[in-house]
Amino acid sequence: MEIVKTVNEVRNIVKSWQKEGLTVGFVPTMGYLHEGHQSLITHAVSENDRVVVSIFVNPMQFGPTEDLASYPRDLERDAALCEVNGAALIFNPEPAEMYFPDFSTYVDMEGLTEGLCGQSRPVHFRGVCTVVTKLFNIVQPDRAYFGQKDAQQLAVIKQMVRDLNMAIEIVGCPIIREADGLAKSSRNTYLNEEERKAALVLSRSIRKGQQLLEQGERNAHTIIEAMTAIIQAEPLAKIDYIEAVDARSLKKVETFEHPVLVALAVYIGKTRLIDNFTYPEQ
Ligand code: PAJ
Repeated sequence: MEIVKTVNEVRNIVKSWQKEGLTVGFVPTMGYLHEGHQSLITHAVSENDRVVVSIFVNPMQFGPTEDLASYPRDLERDAALCEVNGAALIFNPEPAEMYFPDFSTYVDMEGLTEGLCGQSRPVHFRGVCTVVTKLFNIVQPDRAYFGQKDAQQLAVIKQMVRDLNMAIEIVGCPIIREADGLAKSSRNTYLNEEERKAALVLSRSIRKGQQLLEQGERNAHTIIEAMTAIIQAEPLAKIDYIEAVDARSLKKVETFEHPVLVALAVYIGKTRLIDNFTYPEQ
């Protein structure tokens, strides 16, 4: 496995693979890898001849008051994990390699990016779409792998690829959780012991929502209220949003008729965590 820092190196390596007729899978990440990322890498390895992982904490997708400076980083550990999971190449650029000082071209999506996380993170999806487009242009993969953990991001990337005719298959992968239910996230490292316990309200509220659906409840308001009550009972938790939206359009729904995404963002202390489920499961 190789680790490279420049666009040209990636281009040359991928070109040589493509000359041999090898297929290329791509897993974009911001590093500090955990089992969620690893599941994307192993999925990519199972479907492609070569797998590229990018590790880049993309400044453009962080708002001015967000955690860009404190975002956890550990390239050595990440490289070891990529290697054991079968990746062939890590692309780990510096911000200056990705953004010229006078960079001024953006991929800006309307609609899907406006609700849910887009409400409280107004510049986020412009940063994600722009960097993912750049990474796709650099790596030119056959397939790219994204987690359902970031359900809105996955929907946005699928739409972007469709809208802009990018010749890349987008593969969605299920949420990987800790044994006690907490969705794996690089940001879980911000939680102290007390907050780590409190963070279980996210997955508990999801189980409550799923239970009500299994019992036949179809009213979105009733389900969201029951989930909200569980989170509000935890003093360290503060809800950013809990919403039931159409799984494709991400527009609010009143009832569970078509596939629905129930997505939530909750502050545990200062740490903002997200989680979701779809019904029926997709
Ligand atoms: P990052 O948060 O590092 O996540 C990289 C990929 O891992 C995303 O597709 C995310 O959905 C997936 N992932 C994270 N936690 C997961 C879990 N518990 N189970 C399954 N998949 C999980 O998402 C980003 O980086 C960035 O926005 C990026 C796409 C790299 C653009 O900068």
